[in-house]
Amino acid sequence: MKKLRFALIGCGRISKNHIAAAITNSKTMELAVVCDPVISLAEKQADVYFAATGVKPLIYTDYKKAIEEQKIDCCAIATESGYHAEIALYCIRHGKNVLIEKPMALSTGDAEQMIHEAKDQGVTLGVCHQNRFNQPVQELHKALEDGRFGKLVSGTARILWNRGMPYYEQAPWRGTWAQDGGTLMNQCIHNIDLLQWSLGGEPDTIMAMTGNYLRDIQAEDFGAILIRFKNGAIGIVEGTACVYPKNLEETLSVFGGTGTAVIGGLAVNRIETWNFEKPAEQDAGVAALTGTDPKDVYGSGHTTLYANYIDAVNNHTDPLVSGTEAIKAMKIILAAYKSQKTGKAVEFDNLSFSTLDMKDSYVRYQ
Ligand SMILES: NC(=O)c1ccc[n+]([C@@H]2O[C@H](COP(=O)([O-])OP(=O)(O)OC[C@H]3O[C@@H](n4cnc5c(N)ncnc54)[C@H](O)[C@@H]3O)[C@@H](O)[C@H]2O)c1
Repeated sequence: MKKLRFALIGCGRISKNHIAAAITNSKTMELAVVCDPVISLAEKQADVYFAATGVKPLIYTDYKKAIEEQKIDCCAIATESGYHAEIALYCIRHGKNVLIEKPMALSTGDAEQMIHEAKDQGVTLGVCHQNRFNQPVQELHKALEDGRFGKLVSGTARILWNRGMPYYEQAPWRGTWAQDGGTLMNQCIHNIDLLQWSLGGEPDTIMAMTGNYLRDIQAEDFGAILIRFKNGAIGIVEGTACVYPKNLEETLSVFGGTGTAVIGGLAVNRIETWNFEKPAEQDAGVAALTGTDPKDVYGSGHTTLYANYIDAVNNHTDPLVSGTEAIKAMKIILAAYKSQKTGKAVEFDNLSFSTLDMKDSYVRYQ
């Protein structure tokens, strides 16, 4: 199988995880281009990749020029969230497979258009919800698929993190309605994705309260969401960027009639509780997953996510986190913003709006 040629578009803070994934997957892919309008950032990532692989990616400041001049199979997009849809649609329209950072877009319309056009073009759209590949999360999903929980009752996603002003001041897009959203859309979206993946996908009704308590940003620094899924299970989200003085935990819990699982640690990477009515073969392996936290809160999932995505492109199958999967968490958050703004529960079907529509959602509380 020929190696897929990737272009990495956006060489900021998260790009090191993409470079690490590209290095580990260098048997099946080659990083042909790194691109950032800030050339020093692109150069830095090219050097890291070269030191590990002996291959020097070409450096571009304009992704359109890179696509025009180089033979690229896949574009990995890691720019500010507000540019995701525009860049992804350009790449898709030029016949490129797209692997995009979360959130895939900031409006339902943009996300749906990306999914629709990727399908029309016959290219693969994948989204970086890398925590789905955490081993404890994979074990949880297997237990769900095997029916070990019995009737699902509820689940919780708790994201108890600290993002202080130095974090938001790193770049002007952070915490804005036009380019980012608040802690729900930026930090909590991963665990909300895991919650909906665990409890059964399609929400029926969403109620939320969000607020801005401590950070000088436009969007929320705290959000609480209640989700009733169509299968009856209830999901509870507690997401905050305000924990003093540092990150405390990111935890996913699932409760059913015959099973309880809690995955905690700093980034849903450690089994805390694993109780089932009936023992199963997988329990022996699970016992080993009670160990230590990953080195950083982004976990190590990008590497496995890239491997899964490359496989999907080569085999013309859906990656584990396809656009169709990733839009679900994004929609839950947009519905939560709408519930906050209107003070009412939101029916999940037929949502159509963007984070920008939410820009005055706290007026009632200021
Ligand atoms: N998967 C995760 O766990 C995770 C973690 C952090 C960030 N993210 C997401 O990754 C994205 C980037 O976040 P970040 O923290 O790295 O931001 P950042 O501000 O550090 O980096 C963004 C980079 O994109 C570059 N850029 C802007 N326009 C460009 C263009 N047209 N072509 C090429 N490059 C361009 C900027 O110059 C900047 O260097 C965001 O969407 C964020 O939500 C995901």
